[in-house]
Amino acid sequence: MSHILHRSLRASLPVAASGRGIRIVDTDGHEYLDASGGAAVSCLGHNHPDVTRAMHEQIDRIAYAHTSFFSTMVAEELADHLVAHAPKNISHVYLVSGGSEAVEAALKLARQYFVEIGEPQRRHFIARRQSYHGNTLGALSVGGNEWRRRQFAPILIDVAHVAPCYEYRDRRPDETADAYGARLAQELEETVQRLGGKNVIAFCAETVVGATAGGLTPVPGYLRRIREICDRHGILYIADEVMCGMGRTGTLHAVEQEGITPDLIAIAKGLGGGYQPIGGVLVADKIIGALTKGSGMFQHGHTYIGHPVACAAALAVQKVIQRDDLLTAVRLQGVRLKERLTAAFGRHPHVGDIRGRGLFMGLELVEGRETKEPFDPGLRLHARIKTEAMARHLMVYPMGGTIDGRRGDHVLLAPPFIVTDAEINEIVARLAPAIDAAIAEAGALVPQTTES
Ligand SMILES: Cc1ncc(COP(=O)(O)O)c(C=O)c1O
Repeated sequence: MSHILHRSLRASLPVAASGRGIRIVDTDGHEYLDASGGAAVSCLGHNHPDVTRAMHEQIDRIAYAHTSFFSTMVAEELADHLVAHAPKNISHVYLVSGGSEAVEAALKLARQYFVEIGEPQRRHFIARRQSYHGNTLGALSVGGNEWRRRQFAPILIDVAHVAPCYEYRDRRPDETADAYGARLAQELEETVQRLGGKNVIAFCAETVVGATAGGLTPVPGYLRRIREICDRHGILYIADEVMCGMGRTGTLHAVEQEGITPDLIAIAKGLGGGYQPIGGVLVADKIIGALTKGSGMFQHGHTYIGHPVACAAALAVQKVIQRDDLLTAVRLQGVRLKERLTAAFGRHPHVGDIRGRGLFMGLELVEGRETKEPFDPGLRLHARIKTEAMARHLMVYPMGGTIDGRRGDHVLLAPPFIVTDAEINEIVARLAPAIDAAIAEAGALVPQTTES
């Protein structure tokens, strides 16, 4: 019996023993094809020699120094690298140990900014439904994943949620993409008016929605309208790029493709590629300026911020991405992946939408393509797909509740940036029968009342 409180007390997991490239081998010798990088984490695959070498070298120099006593060369170098490659308004990075911590820090920094500049009445955050920003209480509060929030709702901070940009389901047939984006922006404007423009701290959104809704990309111009509304009311814009950032969509930051510059960008998964727990918040110079003129500090901190070994891993990952021109690879292989998915599922009776950007692709499953009717949530189709994929030694990232936290199923794919053409073919070749088997099995069952 395991003494770990695993995510599920019922499931029994294979035990990972080693990894190389885009494959993980378990203790029984089974080799799994990692088509999701875990949860869109392993951007360089497993056991990359440049990264492990950098970590070993750092451990041999110094493994830990508390950030209230010291800075370290490696943390400074990582910060220089990140700021040099960030949007122009970004001047600093706050280094943490994961995505939820990055979002928490962004929320607190946004609030402190307004206290410092003499607008302490600002206390509201606005975010979107069908988004995920992390599992700590602040991050869960801004998150719009109903299923994750439900039982904790009484202890969350009050956050206003507006609609996600979910073109497949929510754009009206008589509406252009532009008009749809304008309608969504209008909803934000009305929400700001309701709360009072001078009472709102920040708007927070995933640039491309990951786990909760499966690769939702914004319609062109929509995020620019959002940025304009924020600017008009002096509201900060927090981009949560924990999952979609650091190259996953083909540019280092997904916002680059939207032509907007957020005030705070939360990054994590692809930053360290899973080699160490690390995240960060990229911070605009105007926020740093306010703190510098004001209290001179950010009233926050954790024991492991700026951890040297984590910084060494992240710096090595980022240097490999740059040296090997892996952003170009993401764009090229992203096209290849989309082509292969379209060839395999473009006419599939139960795949309603194939979406995403770069190596960040989602398939939305439907009972019928014409009606877009989702499968009964009680069938737990997403869980069945994961089981069937694992049985075929394929790792993908399916999730339920795509539409509203209860209904809908999708599969998210986020293979490492080093994925080859042959591996893409192999991923799709294993995924197709896994989906078909899961649907066949679900079809044979009477739905239960349980949810995702
Ligand atoms: C968009 C987004 N934000 C925040 C988080 C939380 O990150 P972590 O699990 O590292 O705390 C996640 C994790 O999946 C995420 O996808």
